[in-house]
Amino acid sequence: QRHLLGMAKLQPFEIENLLDLAEREIATSRRDDKKKSVLKGRTQINLFFEASTRTQASFELAGKRLGADVMNMSVGNSSVKKGETLIDTAMTLNAMHPDILVVRHHAAGAVALLAQKVGCSVVNAGDGAHEHPTQALLDALTIRRRKGRIAGLTVAICGDVLHSRVARSNIIALNALGARVRVVGPSTLLPAGIEDMSVEVFRRMDEGIADADVVMMLRLQRERMAGAFVPSVREYFRYFGLDEAKLKRAKPDALVMHPGPMNRGVEIASDVADGPQSVIEEQVEMGVAVRMAVMQALLPSQELAA
Ligand code: CP
Repeated sequence: QRHLLGMAKLQPFEIENLLDLAEREIATSRRDDKKKSVLKGRTQINLFFEASTRTQASFELAGKRLGADVMNMSVGNSSVKKGETLIDTAMTLNAMHPDILVVRHHAAGAVALLAQKVGCSVVNAGDGAHEHPTQALLDALTIRRRKGRIAGLTVAICGDVLHSRVARSNIIALNALGARVRVVGPSTLLPAGIEDMSVEVFRRMDEGIADADVVMMLRLQRERMAGAFVPSVREYFRYFGLDEAKLKRAKPDALVMHPGPMNRGVEIASDVADGPQSVIEEQVEMGVAVRMAVMQALLPSQELAA
């Protein structure tokens, strides 16, 4: 079975192929009749053990637009609440012969473990602080469409890198596509050994976003900081929140990105999030196209490997 578990497993040409395929699906998503039949007869189950708005909704829409039968498992109402394990839950669903399982889980590695057990394709919709590959693909597509290329661009990924699967997947994808990747944040929110991921590390926003082509902000993930250092929101915004003044350090045509959900006034000021340089809503639109591309690529009849 073919799976998409992380960006680390994809070659640059495979990433480019997925972006090209997604590019074609943008048109599908914009026309009146959005329905195709590429996945007609296929069953897609979305299994989300963590909250989601964008990822779950866009996987559901993507599957439906491709003609699949889509089922959203409501974990809150499932037998997980009665103590059923991840693997038992997955095997139960597997017995119903789905073709694609889309899984989000709070533990890094959980989706890969599940993929070893089931007989269908598995897509990682985010596993702990490990990877969120479809987010990196939609971010790359957004950048490529706006800038015409990714190679040679300077992308500053800013904020809570430590807890961010989005940052990890983006670092891998953007490096593979030839961008210069920076990470910017306080030492307490930068993972040990991050330098080994081919990034330049900055601990001050003014230096980290200077002359950047893309400023990608990350959510401060306070829910993952239990028992650890939690910065005060006021102080965090002052030093690491993206406001108009800090954004002036980047190139005048720099893109402002955020994977969502945003904490306005924490990592990003409202006027910047809603401002002319923001492509945050465009990221959401690209999410549907990218997920349509990924699910088509996972079909055995397709040439693309994922
Ligand atoms: N970007 C992202 O993963 O958003 P959701 O948590 O809403 O899916």
